[in-house]
Amino acid sequence: MNRTKRATLGGRLSAVLVAAGSAIGLGNIWRFPYVAGEHGGGAFLLLYLLSILLVGMPVMLAEFALGRSTQRNSVGAFGRYGAKWKAIGYLGLLTSFAILGFYFVVSGWTLGYLVRALGGTLQHDHTAAEYTALFTEFIRHPWQPLLYTALFVGMTHVVISLGVQRGIERTSKILMPLLFIVLIALAIHSLQMPRAAEGVRFLFEPDFSKVTGRTLLIALGQAFFSLSIGMGSMITYASYFRPETNLRHTAAGVTGLSALVAILAGIVIFPAVFSVGLEPEAGPSLVFVTLPGIFNDLPWSGLWSSIFFVLLVVAALTSTISLHEALTAYVHEEWHTSRRNSARIVSAATLLLAALASLSTGPNDALQLFGVSLFDALDFLSANILLPLGGLLTCLFAGWVLDRTTFDEQLSNHGTLRYRIRRLMRFLLRWFCPALLLLVFLDSLGLL
Ligand code: TRP
Repeated sequence: MNRTKRATLGGRLSAVLVAAGSAIGLGNIWRFPYVAGEHGGGAFLLLYLLSILLVGMPVMLAEFALGRSTQRNSVGAFGRYGAKWKAIGYLGLLTSFAILGFYFVVSGWTLGYLVRALGGTLQHDHTAAEYTALFTEFIRHPWQPLLYTALFVGMTHVVISLGVQRGIERTSKILMPLLFIVLIALAIHSLQMPRAAEGVRFLFEPDFSKVTGRTLLIALGQAFFSLSIGMGSMITYASYFRPETNLRHTAAGVTGLSALVAILAGIVIFPAVFSVGLEPEAGPSLVFVTLPGIFNDLPWSGLWSSIFFVLLVVAALTSTISLHEALTAYVHEEWHTSRRNSARIVSAATLLLAALASLSTGPNDALQLFGVSLFDALDFLSANILLPLGGLLTCLFAGWVLDRTTFDEQLSNHGTLRYRIRRLMRFLLRWFCPALLLLVFLDSLGLL
């Protein structure tokens, strides 16, 4: 592939925004509250923040350095260092595929809720039981969730086909800041609901009695998932970064924003969970059954819920774009077929998997893997096994295989930026992160 032909992204702000566009999505707003709810709230939040800081940041920097230095998709990037390393890239592609399999389904749900918000039907219900019934009826409907999932695959396909620059950059730039503002407004509202204090306590008061090795695995998995690392998305994105982009500031910005959105989502959801009389352990349905209760309490609830779901759809879209792009860039550059064709292949394959996952959590519960629905299996497998495994291999690769000069040059922009955390980064990538990830894996397999 000709280097000069590769698209580049705009200035420093754009690099942060597009990477944040990939990172911020349903992982922060839908997945974080539901896993935090299942794993004890405050203690989980603490483990999640530590995971982001001590493991997430180094891995993201390693992916950035690798992507920008090689200017390749993830398989090509690892392949520069010998064919056997391509395996890490392939693992990432498999992960991307697995994530899209359930992510498109949840994205479809957001679209379905948007349509209900616009049509005013979200406002008809008023009790916890009614909100839950609304959700269950929707996902069990024989064709509606499938239709919305397919629509979402179609939207992602269109953006990907328009190309990197026009599609991804513009969308992220305008709507991400807006999402942030709406979340803050909703958080303020949630905090004023009756029994809100219980939700705040649940989210911020750590109860370590519920913490096990497995909780740490799930917190690490959530950290990887919400930062879009461990599978090569950020390698592909960094290959489009400019030479002047400060990778450390970009990583710090993306990580900070992503954590902030997750915490904000928690402040929106948990006070309302207790206020409406729901259970924080509800699982993947948590956000969908809680949100209508928040909106119904507001003046102009139809308007608020419509704006919110539009933004949620966009946040999901900038994330599915990055997952899709990782696969499309690979097919395009390594299979030597046109970008359009590559995008079509990826969309068709992911649509098939997502359709099965959608059926598995709705009308067809015979579609199972490891004793749970295909949907739950893809969610668990990708976040808690594949991403941490990809992260482990990325750390080992960055710490032991990637030459020191390349890494340092990328992080200091060839010596033009001051860079004081060199030693710390090396230690984290070489020893700390791999050891921690390995221990957590062994523990959750019951081998410790
Ligand atoms: N981080 C996104 C979210 O929180 C999802 C996502 C996009 C992702 N690209 C990824 C997760 C790559 C893991 C790897 O919604």
